[in-house]
Amino acid sequence: MTERHIPYSMVERRSFLGRMSAIVGAVFFAQVVLPLWRYLFPGMSREPDKVEFTEDMLAQLNTLEPGECLRFQWGGVPGLALRARDGELRVFKGVCTHADCNVAWRSETNDFFCACHEGRYDEFGKNIEGPPPRPLTRLFVEFTGDPAKEITELTVWRSESVQRKEGEGA
Ligand code: FES
Repeated sequence: MTERHIPYSMVERRSFLGRMSAIVGAVFFAQVVLPLWRYLFPGMSREPDKVEFTEDMLAQLNTLEPGECLRFQWGGVPGLALRARDGELRVFKGVCTHADCNVAWRSETNDFFCACHEGRYDEFGKNIEGPPPRPLTRLFVEFTGDPAKEITELTVWRSESVQRKEGEGA
């Protein structure tokens, strides 16, 4: 009986190709399939009307230094709560207005950055560089406390009109 030996380099090449396929598949899923899914089935990824911050989220928010940002869950996408250097609390949907990639806050350059096509937004969410056609979507906040010091209650609303409507219904 003879044994067949698979050359070592062949095994290495196969596992390398397997890993590369997994990475390419993950990138394709994130960049093509998810945005396409959201476009075709907008109801499936519907935004919430509001998110009420828990004690734990408030504790994290209150430890932010001016110029730092907290990422939280806004439905199926990230929300970004920025404790701005001027003391204001600004909250945005963390999704790029170009092709729906997630954006990230960069304290060192005081801007929001989208790595997909290098889009940039300023601290007010205004699109300032790259392909994004519109500012980031700003969310409406209702809070008690001082945004520059300590916030004791916080609700993030999809818009002021949604908040008003729920207030009228209560
Ligand atoms: S998706 Fe953000 S710049 Fe293109």
